[in-house]
Amino acid sequence: MPFIPSEATLLPAAYTVAGFAGSIALLRLYKLRKWGRVRSTFSLRDKTFVITGANTGLGYETTKALVRRQATVIMACRNMAKAQAAIEKIRQEEQEERKGSKSSGTLIPMQLDLASFQSVRQFAGELQRTVPRFDCLVNNAGLAVREPEFTREGYEVHYGVNHLGQFLLVELLKERLLEQGTRVVVVSSRMHEIEAEIDFKNLGRWVEYGSRLNRLYNNSKLMNFYYARELYKRGYNVHVLCPGLCHTDFFRHYEPKWYHYLLFSPIVWLMLRSAEQGAQNIIYAATESVTTPECNPVTGYFISNVRMRRSKFHFDENTSIRLWDESVRAIERSSTSSTT
Ligand SMILES: NC(=O)c1ccc[n+]([C@@H]2O[C@H](COP(=O)([O-])OP(=O)(O)OC[C@H]3O[C@@H](n4cnc5c(N)ncnc54)[C@H](OP(=O)(O)O)[C@@H]3O)[C@@H](O)[C@H]2O)c1
Repeated sequence: MPFIPSEATLLPAAYTVAGFAGSIALLRLYKLRKWGRVRSTFSLRDKTFVITGANTGLGYETTKALVRRQATVIMACRNMAKAQAAIEKIRQEEQEERKGSKSSGTLIPMQLDLASFQSVRQFAGELQRTVPRFDCLVNNAGLAVREPEFTREGYEVHYGVNHLGQFLLVELLKERLLEQGTRVVVVSSRMHEIEAEIDFKNLGRWVEYGSRLNRLYNNSKLMNFYYARELYKRGYNVHVLCPGLCHTDFFRHYEPKWYHYLLFSPIVWLMLRSAEQGAQNIIYAATESVTTPECNPVTGYFISNVRMRRSKFHFDENTSIRLWDESVRAIERSSTSSTT
């Protein structure tokens, strides 16, 4: 005889499903609260921000939020067509939302490819020539790839773009940044706490670590933190942060299978922030002074969920200084080989 579910069996099942869905929704609400938001809305008129990788993802959302607060934003992008498209999108959204009633800030696109020292030098030169003063440099641009990729100078891209490109940029702007007390924001990641090391033996080389994680990426995000520490020690006004796991173009090289969608969709929905949510951490770092003598990159503090928290990683001073020296050498090596 076929099984016909009775009310007595259907009702508990319905309660279980509703209870499960309710718990997920509550957990999501809890997460949204925990992720935090920037509450300040003061005007940023007369303030200039330079943001790398401003055309999409976290850089785009940061740009949008700052320009709405009337800032001038220099959008340092490797692809000028994408930068222009991003500007049009921001202006279009502004018009739709505000019907053009309140004036917002200024958007200036500039070409910067962090995978080329020549491009970094050109960008730094143009910035110094055309922008007499800027208040904040946001080193946001970054990537994670699955197949070997190298910069123009031959460094694997996690090291070359995520670390060395921004290292050279700051070096070239050094006097200006120190003289004007310009804030430097370093976008790292909590991945610096997971299976990350500064592998000096293989620095700049593509290495297969045989891990499920992209260790080259994690290592580069640890470099970001070490780098922020050294900047702080050397007198820069620096903030380091993790935006959290966010839904952006960052995962463009990841090709999920259909069953990944099935298995991971609920987890992803719970754990993944929108780019706008993740960008709150960058906006916070760029606009609020939260670094103190007690809480700063040297004492292991970084911004996460729009507040300061301490890294679980045990930093050591020798690694910090050695990474700096190796980075200087990597740049010098490339300058010498390009002139000989
Ligand atoms: N999304 C996350 O879950 C997450 C989590 C922790 C930390 N982060 C960090 O957040 C930062 C921004 O990531 P996102 O999520 O916004 O990624 P995204 O959407 O992929 O945006 C990355 C930006 O960096 C630019 N970029 C890449 N390579 C470049 C190069 N050689 N020169 C100049 N610009 C370059 C990209 O330009 P194109 O558009 O031209 O490629 C793009 O504008 C990265 O540093 C990343 O490590 C992200």
